[in-house]
Parts: sequence; structure tokens; C-alpha cells
Amino acid sequence: MLDVPDLSEKVAIVTGGGKGIGRAIALGLAQARAKVIIAARTAGEIEAVAEEIRSKGGEALAKITDVTQSDQIQALVDTARDAYGRIDILINNAARSFFRPLMDLREDGFDKIFNTNVKAVFLLSRSCAKIMMGQGGGRIVNITTVGAVRGGPMMGVYHASKAALKMLTMCMATEWAPMNVLVNAVGPGMTKTEFSQPIWAVPEIDQMIVSRIPRGRLAEPKDMVGAVLFLCSQGANFITGQTIYVDGGTLANT
Ligand SMILES: NC(=O)c1ccc[n+]([C@@H]2O[C@H](COP(=O)([O-])OP(=O)(O)OC[C@H]3O[C@@H](n4cnc5c(N)ncnc54)[C@H](OP(=O)(O)O)[C@@H]3O)[C@@H](O)[C@H]2O)c1
Repeated sequence: MLDVPDLSEKVAIVTGGGKGIGRAIALGLAQARAKVIIAARTAGEIEAVAEEIRSKGGEALAKITDVTQSDQIQALVDTARDAYGRIDILINNAARSFFRPLMDLREDGFDKIFNTNVKAVFLLSRSCAKIMMGQGGGRIVNITTVGAVRGGPMMGVYHASKAALKMLTMCMATEWAPMNVLVNAVGPGMTKTEFSQPIWAVPEIDQMIVSRIPRGRLAEPKDMVGAVLFLCSQGANFITGQTIYVDGGTLANT
């Protein structure tokens, strides 16, 4: 069982919280006694996570949200504020990619990646930060990737979008630190979720990737939770604009 900070009375939004890393983060925040709003497009998945939290005595609600639609971003913020009266923590986890060479990525594919991974984070963070500033502060954690600082084939525009998100994290941190809104990132290495399945499901590729990870295995979604909770905790109250890579040593090994 993970050591968790006390986040009781805190209200947290997790985008893409219906599965994978976002689900693990939502469950971790609930374990730390935060009230959690889980947002994604698939109702059944986010309802299931909210119900899992409630069944363990926590408070949670699910809000169907497509983060690429600005009216739905505003509806998510309004839902959180109407339900709980405040927003203390925002986890920008939702993302998308296409697994193909740059030569084969269509123009609308580029737009979908940047709209989800960068523009939505900007719009949702700004709306939440306004509320956080009115309350005296808050925390934003953006989920990036080791691919934000390392090139590679087949997901080039995704990597570029996460590099942009890393810089957006630093710029939001710079502008909003005086108002006590701290903005950081967690950068996972390859993690066993549906998102990365096209890669790790091929045994030869899986073995090749694992051979480069000093810890000797791919990450599991729950491996990301400790870093996210730390960045939301009192212990991180002088940290902003940083990325913690949770990659089993991958970046150290390149
Ligand atoms: N898995 C890895 O190896 C890995 C490595 C490094 C970084 N990451 C990062 O970790 C984060 C989570 O990835 P994951 O592997 O857990 O992915 P995942 O299992 O595919 O989950 C992605 C989540 O994002 C949601 N989402 C996608 N587009 C959305 C939209 N337009 N509006 C709202 N929600 C949307 C999805 O829900 P709906 O489809 O229902 O909307 C889903 O809940 C991402 O930021 C990813 O870039 C993953």
C-alpha cells in the first residue's frame, strides 16, 4: 500500500480518468481522501471508476467530457464547482496519438493530437487556475512522457505535442507561481496501458524496450501515482515548472 499525503477537503479533476494511468491517479487521489471528478468521453468507464471510489467510502463523480470541445471544458469546470464549491487539483492526463510514420499522418491527425494534448490543457488549466487563484492557490500536474525530451519513430507529432506541453508547464508555472498555483509534470516511461499496446504487445519490441530500462520492466499505471500525489502535497510547495520522470531509469540510460 502506497504512503499517501492527506488531501482531505481537496477537490481534484482528472482528465482521461476512466482507464490506464488516469484511472490509477484518480484512485490514488481518492485514497488520499480528495474528492475526485473523473472526466473522459466514455461514460461507462468513468462511471465505473467513480463507483469504485464511492464503494470504498470516497467521494467521486463522473463527467462526460471531450476535452477538445471548449464548451465541454467549461461544463466540466462548472460541474466541479457546483458539486464541491472549489477546485484544488487538476491532473491533465487525457491524450491521444496515432502510431504511424510522419509521412502517413494526416493533417487532421496532427490537429487531433495537438488539440487534445496541448490546446485542451491550456484551456482547462486556465479555467481552473482562475478558480484556484480566487481560493488562494492550487496544483496542476500535466502528464507528459519521456518522449517530450527524446525523439523516436512512429509517434513524432505526439512527441512534439508533449514537448510543447512540457514548455507550457514551465510557462504556466512562471506566470502563476505568484498566485500560488503550482504547475508541474510527470513524465512516464513506457507504461502497460491500451494506449501503448500496439508497441508492447509485439514480443520482440517489448523485449527490446525492456532491455533499455534499467529497472528491467515496463511501468504499470500505479507506478505514476506516488509522483503525482507528491506534487499535490504540502511537501512540494516550493516546486513548480518541473517534470518528474517515472521511467525506471530510461532517460538516465540514454
Ligand atoms: N502508456 C504509456 O506508455 C505512456 C507513456 C508516456 C506517457 N503516457 C501518457 O499518460 C497519459 C495517459 O495515457 P494512458 O496510457 O493511460 O492512455 P489510455 O489508457 O489510452 O487512456 C487515455 C485516456 O484519455 C482519455 N481521452 C482521450 N481523448 C480524450 C478527449 N478528447 N477528451 C477526454 N478524454 C480523452 C481516454 O478516454 P475516452 O477515450 O473515453 O475519452 C482515456 O481515459 C497520457 O497523457 C499519455 O500521453 C503514457
